[in-house]
Amino acid sequence: MSAARGGRAGAVVTGVGTCLPETVVDNDEVSRHLDTDHAWIHSRTGIERRRRVSPGTTTGDLAVTAGAAALKSAGRDDCDLVLLATTTPDRRCPATAPRVASRLGLRAAAAFDLAAVCSGFVYGLSVADAMITAGTCDRALVIGADVYSSIVDPDDRGTAVVFGDGAGAVLLERGDTGDPGAVLHTELGSDGTGDELITIPPDGAYLTMRGSDVYTRAVTTMAESARSTAAHAGWDLADVDAFVGHQANLRILTSVAKRLRLPPERVVSNIADVANTAAASIPLALADAAAQGRIGSGDRLLLTAFGGGLTWGSAAVVWSGAEPVQDQRS
Ligand code: UT7
Repeated sequence: MSAARGGRAGAVVTGVGTCLPETVVDNDEVSRHLDTDHAWIHSRTGIERRRRVSPGTTTGDLAVTAGAAALKSAGRDDCDLVLLATTTPDRRCPATAPRVASRLGLRAAAAFDLAAVCSGFVYGLSVADAMITAGTCDRALVIGADVYSSIVDPDDRGTAVVFGDGAGAVLLERGDTGDPGAVLHTELGSDGTGDELITIPPDGAYLTMRGSDVYTRAVTTMAESARSTAAHAGWDLADVDAFVGHQANLRILTSVAKRLRLPPERVVSNIADVANTAAASIPLALADAAAQGRIGSGDRLLLTAFGGGLTWGSAAVVWSGAEPVQDQRS
């Protein structure tokens, strides 16, 4: 369904691109090294397999490929902002985004990293939307890229089965809130009293997650955030064509959809194939849904994420009908 031309300047999504590592690791392979099995992983999470980078491949490498794919999807070859949401930057200093911008051939684009863990993509979308609307930039690549295989303890069955590597990106351009692709409303939030629930402790090398505590918070907060965002966009929940939530756990998505009274067929999920890819999760799900024809031009999309921080965010977006470009690398 097409929104009427809104007449207000805003940002529109004009392209979507992804990059997944070629190596597929299925549940049986994970179970060879850990006290777990396919039945447990699949029934508790919906995950069947995940992708893993080859040694030497970094977040920046995946981000460059996904960024190039999003530019190609939009039929563009430049932009003036690169915003990279990640928990696994290539180095602690400097940020990874400037090098990504240079490798994409973008001269003098503003470029910075954004740290909001699994909510990073929605945070990035919101920031880029605001910067475009304010006139700070004209065209922005928002990339979510993470290589959690570099921070997950391979011996911790609570996290090792859950996460996968990947990157996804969208191109945002100046437009009108009535245009296909329009970002109509975004909302962000945080609660730092929960910062211990997902963390790399100061003296630790690996990520720790109190999964069941996060689970409960994720369900209630994602439902509230999604409901409020739809209302601010002027949508009835019944009019939402697709709910594109952060792919942390299929049961979380199902529970949130139930709270929102959204029928299961409106819930987009690709967690079976890619697992939880953190900041990359929502653009990867968007691209898969578009590639499969599950979302089309004018559809009302409700994007909602939740993750470490704790952080969360939602966005109401009218899909542009952009053809996704989906790439791979080692
Ligand atoms: O992306 C950022 C946000 N993250 C999330 O939203 C993640 C939210 N949390 C989850 O998705 C789930 O909590 C997990 C998938 C991480 C864990 O599933 P769960 O159903 O919450 O399990 P649990 O942590 O409550 O553990 C239940 C049992 C425990 O055994 P006991 O104590 O009952 O004997 C665990 O030791 O399951 C055990 N367990 C496992 N068993 C087999 C935990 N992990 C595994 C495993 N295989 N991989």
